[in-house]
Formats: sequence, structure tokens, C-alpha cells
Amino acid sequence: MAAGAELDLSDLHGSLADPLLSAMNFLNEVAGRYPEALSLAAGTPYEGFYDVEDVHRALRAYCAHLRDKRGFDERRVRRRLLQYGRTKGIIHDLIAQYLSVDEGIDVDPESIVLTTGCQEALLLTMRALRRDERDVLLAVNPVYVGVTGAARLLDMPVHPVDGGADGIDLADLRRRIHRARAAGLRPRACYLVPDFANPTGLRLSLASRHALLELADREDILLLEDNPYGLFPLGEGRLPTLKSLDAGRRVVHLGSLSKSVFPGVRIGFAVADQQVLQADGDRFLLADVLAKAKSMVTVNTAPLSQAVAGGWLVEHGCSLVRATHDVRKVYQRNLRRLVDGLAVRFPAPSHVTWNTPEGGFFVVVDVPFEATDAALEYSAATHGVLWTPLHHFYDGRPALRSLRLSISGLEADEVDDALDRFAAFVHAYRRSSAA
Ligand SMILES: Cc1ncc(COP(=O)(O)O)c(C=O)c1O
Repeated sequence: MAAGAELDLSDLHGSLADPLLSAMNFLNEVAGRYPEALSLAAGTPYEGFYDVEDVHRALRAYCAHLRDKRGFDERRVRRRLLQYGRTKGIIHDLIAQYLSVDEGIDVDPESIVLTTGCQEALLLTMRALRRDERDVLLAVNPVYVGVTGAARLLDMPVHPVDGGADGIDLADLRRRIHRARAAGLRPRACYLVPDFANPTGLRLSLASRHALLELADREDILLLEDNPYGLFPLGEGRLPTLKSLDAGRRVVHLGSLSKSVFPGVRIGFAVADQQVLQADGDRFLLADVLAKAKSMVTVNTAPLSQAVAGGWLVEHGCSLVRATHDVRKVYQRNLRRLVDGLAVRFPAPSHVTWNTPEGGFFVVVDVPFEATDAALEYSAATHGVLWTPLHHFYDGRPALRSLRLSISGLEADEVDDALDRFAAFVHAYRRSSAA
């Protein structure tokens, strides 16, 4: 039999040979090889409340909503769920209600584009902003690898902005904008996760949010606000989203239902209410431009998935705060347990230090050795515990003496067990790397 076509990786798009694009697979692959290991690595949501029956119930709730509230007959219900659909999505009205109820964001539903996860919303937004080789994205570092990876696919350079202690160093952002402009580049937008960022867990203060919006206005850039973790503060207090404070339409708000419904539904969205001016003077919403790109990527987001997400929203009065009541308690309990457990296992003064986020899934730990991929392998093989080397969140940086711990996938007693294993790993690895 003929050997068949053979392609050379170096003949394919350059991003595909970039180690950055292998980061997620590498981390999943390590986890796959050590199935018995406890995971302080996974950022996947808690599964304890998952029930397939809920999917059927949500689907029925959405159909009932279409019949009872929208006056659809059976033929229209069937078509809505089973046919190709509107490119911008079919549950934009319900997402707009959620945004108003939970996030203080009041926008025309027409400015919302439903996407296949937030990841597609990110990709479409970057695609639109990358006109030519002068266009660059700024991103608060360390940054979620999905952003830098998607940017690579689009040949969009990402310029890092220092996160500082507060979640964004505004002086550095200003400096980076000016430096890029001086080099003949166009910084189009700054990407950030204002609430409990991945991987730092940091949350921007209210004052920083206002100052960032002012700076964006002054410097004429957009802000890409990614918000998967905002529903999970440690206490009751949530801070207003950038979009809810955005009088000047500087913010493209990117949402994900992966952590509030479940990731398998693959529903995200972009709120893009910016005006786009055409040469003949006509104006569009940026959402319409994103939809034009989307029509050539995924045509439309799976209506069945949208229907499940729509039913979920309908069942909870369009409040994801309400829908996540129980799981929020799990995350709060686990995060407290992790931070308290670190203090017990590494009493001050210690070579091991960490930050104390006000919510979300993640804590950054500084350790007295390089947290390399090899150290992770050793930790998994010898101590049965997984964590994430922080260097994966820095584009092209070699190993750092920092790592990310995540609390989202564990039961409460597993947090303690995982921390015992982690402490044993740290002590053993420190000794062996000092030797
Ligand atoms: C900061 C951030 N943005 C986006 C995503 C991807 O979201 P989605 O599952 O909706 O594509 C993740 C996933 O972990 C994330 O951490």
C-alpha cells in the first residue's frame, strides 16, 4: 500500500509548530498518565452537581418558554432547535436579561453574539481587530494560554502588560501603548480578566476599573473583558464589571457559560456594542462584523446547545448568580480550605509563599525551586499530585519559581489530602534540587 501523503510541519502555519499551542495538551496528557493523582491543576468546574437529566429538563424548559412566552407553534419550535439558525444566536434576549439582572449591563440584545464557548468569541474579536501587520493586542500577564494561542493562529502579536499586585499596572499599560505606537504599531485592545484572573486569582479594585476605563478612553484603545469567574467571590460582594461602567463603549465583554452551566454546552458570547463606520457612511454594530466572521467559521452556534443554556437561564429567572448558588459554596469552601491549609503546612517564615485571592478558582504559589514541567512529572509520579507550572502563562518564558493551584475540581476532604501531597512534594523536591 502507498505510504500516503506526508506533510512537513514546517510547511504548515507557523503557529502549529509553536510549543505554546501544545501547552494545554501537555498538561492534559500528564493528568491522563496519572489518573490516581489528585489534581490541583485542573481549572475545570466541579462535577458534583452534574446530572444528565438536567439537560433534558432544560431543553423542555426552553421549548415551553418558546410556546408559552413567545407564542411559537410546534413547527416553529422544531425549526428553532433543529434547523440552521441566526448567526448571532437564538438566546440573545435571555443573555441580555442575565446581563441586566446579574451584571448591571444593559445592552440591546442585537449587540450580543452567541459563540461556541468564550474561546470563539475571543478568536472572532481578535480576527476583526487584526487588520494588518501593524495591529497588536496587549494582554495583562500572566495570561490565559487560550488568548496567546488564538492570537498565534491569527498572527496577532501579543504585548505583555504587567499585572502588578492589583491585577493591572496602569502605568505599564500606558508605557506599552506608547512604546508600540512609537514603533509604528497599533495597539488595538487590552485583554484582561478583571475578576479572579486565570492564573493569578487577582481582582481589580473599583478604583482601578474606573482608572482603566479612563485610560482606555484617553489612549483610544478597546478593553477585552473576559469574565468566566466573576460569579464566584469568596464573600458575598461582587464588583461591577467593566462593561457595566463603560459609558464610552470601550469594552467588549466576553462571557462564558462553562463555569456557570457546564463546559460541555460550549456556549459563550461577546457583547460588542461599538459602532463600526463603513466607507459609504453606513454604521453597524461590531457584533454584526463579528457575526460576519462567524458565518465563515462555525456558521452558527449549535441551536441545541443554546436551547439547553436558554432553558437553564429561564429556569433560574435569567440569573446565573441564582443558578450557581450551590456550586459557589463549594468553591468558597475549597478556596478557604486551600489558603488555610497552605498556612498550616508552610508556617511563616517559609520559603513557600502565596497570594490570597478574593474569589475564583486559583492561587499562585512561589516555591524555592524552578517549577518546571519535569518537576510536575516528578510531583505526579512520586507524590500523586498535579499543579500547573506558571511559565505556561507567560509567552516563551522558561521555567519560573511559581505555580498555580486550582480548587475547582476537588471535594473538600480531597483539598486537604492534595495539600499534604503537595507539601511532601515541595519538601522532597527542594531537598533534591538543593543537593
Ligand atoms: C480566562 C478564560 N477565558 C476563557 C476560557 C474559555 O472559556 P470557554 O470554555 O467558554 O471557551 C477559559 C477557560 O478556562 C478561561 O480561563
